[in-house]
Amino acid sequence: DKFNDKHGKFLVFFGTFVDTPKLGELRIREKTSVGVLNGIIRFVNRNSLDPVKDCLDHDSSLSPEDVTVVDIIGKDKTRNNSFYFPGFVDTHNHVSQYPNVGVFGNSTLLDWLEKYTFPIEAALANENIAREVYNKVISKTLSHGTTTVAYYNTIDLKSTKLLAQLSSLLGQRVLVGKVCMDTNGPEYYIEDTKTSFESTVKVVKYIRETICDPLVNPIVTPRFAPSCSRELMQQLSKLVKDENIHVQTHLSENKEEIQWVQDLFPECESYTDVYDKYGLLTEKTVLAHCIHLTDAEARVIKQRRCGISHCPISNSSLTSGECRVRWLLDQGIKVGLGTDVSAGHSCSILTTGRQAFAVSRHLAMRETDHAKLSVSECLFLATMGGAQVLRMDETLGTFDVGKQFDAQMIDTNAPGSNVDMFHWQLKEKDQMQEQEQEQGQDPYKNPPLLTNEDIIAKWFFNGDDRNTTKVWVAGQQVYQI
Ligand code: GUN
Ligand code: FE
Repeated sequence: DKFNDKHGKFLVFFGTFVDTPKLGELRIREKTSVGVLNGIIRFVNRNSLDPVKDCLDHDSSLSPEDVTVVDIIGKDKTRNNSFYFPGFVDTHNHVSQYPNVGVFGNSTLLDWLEKYTFPIEAALANENIAREVYNKVISKTLSHGTTTVAYYNTIDLKSTKLLAQLSSLLGQRVLVGKVCMDTNGPEYYIEDTKTSFESTVKVVKYIRETICDPLVNPIVTPRFAPSCSRELMQQLSKLVKDENIHVQTHLSENKEEIQWVQDLFPECESYTDVYDKYGLLTEKTVLAHCIHLTDAEARVIKQRRCGISHCPISNSSLTSGECRVRWLLDQGIKVGLGTDVSAGHSCSILTTGRQAFAVSRHLAMRETDHAKLSVSECLFLATMGGAQVLRMDETLGTFDVGKQFDAQMIDTNAPGSNVDMFHWQLKEKDQMQEQEQEQGQDPYKNPPLLTNEDIIAKWFFNGDDRNTTKVWVAGQQVYQI
């Protein structure tokens, strides 16, 4: 609404569309038109000659005035710098911790929570502080191309409602969670079991009945097993099943944490078994980290069809460990990326994807090359993988008919861009051949051309928010550089 209000209008986008329909597949469709009505992709036409005509062909009751051509990129002869890419999905972001980004010293998980994290979360009970932080994080993640986020707030009911309101206002697709913790917290930041459960119910009701925005949904958020009593987990489990709500929590992040969980829950076989026994593993459960899982735990996660949020920046920063993403994917477990702000020091899923790439290379140096994740696999985790984890893969993650138009326009040549490409790397093959005919063929004198895949890789490694020039959620433009 900030930029346009085109609901009910037929929108058509034209240009190069890049996405990852399957793990390892980079699909690049040039000179393509994509028609969108009420946020949903209605047609995808490859080798389009006229995007408006494509709309009229799609629906004969439309006239040209009914069609809004939103953007045409790459219609001229020169090779284009811009393409559409699906909006990124951040499956794990503690919005409330954002003021602490970059502030963690040499801490590891448990001392980091006490020293840095609980104090900042407690401070966000102040509504003015909270509003400022939420506005910053929502607009920042949008500017980095993140169209969908699963947010952890704090234990505070009022500010969690505010987070839902602001997300709706700014047009991001979100899952909003009030953190639940009724044990082992500091005395200034803890709730009793009853309050924790009841305020969760209130958040769910408020989001569904008062906010009432299809883009904003609740997610039940037991912080992690050490923070939750058995009673609380059982009550939350019943709520989740009765009301069909998402769940998010942390699992197997740090070795001391795992030992602590074994001590706290001697009746359980493993950390994973705690969540399983107390009913929190559903196909709409997002488990962050999952670094030190045993084979048996992975089998339970697969069986319960939970998704995993891989948070490589956080895992390296807090020296938690290296998640074996290939090992998870090989078992058919769903994996997406999480920034894990503020244990992760970036709001950007592109930066997080680069760290996923690096962590996989570190694993490969100890194991085999099989552990390596390719650029297109990291981009899959950043989009489709995240959509699968949130069980939104039927509606998000690629440019296909029936899906929501959640997209970012990438311009590798945007002002200030850090993605450097030379004009002679970008010539079309036919231009190159003409030149060869004129100048004679000498392969050593003609510089190598970049393929489309090379260009995507250059963006992956050197791109940032300066290259994300526009962002849409459900067909609505929510950001422009
Ligand atoms: N485990 C429990 N709470 C947290 C948190 O806030 N961040 C991370 N990374 N792990 C946790
Ligand atoms: Fe986290």
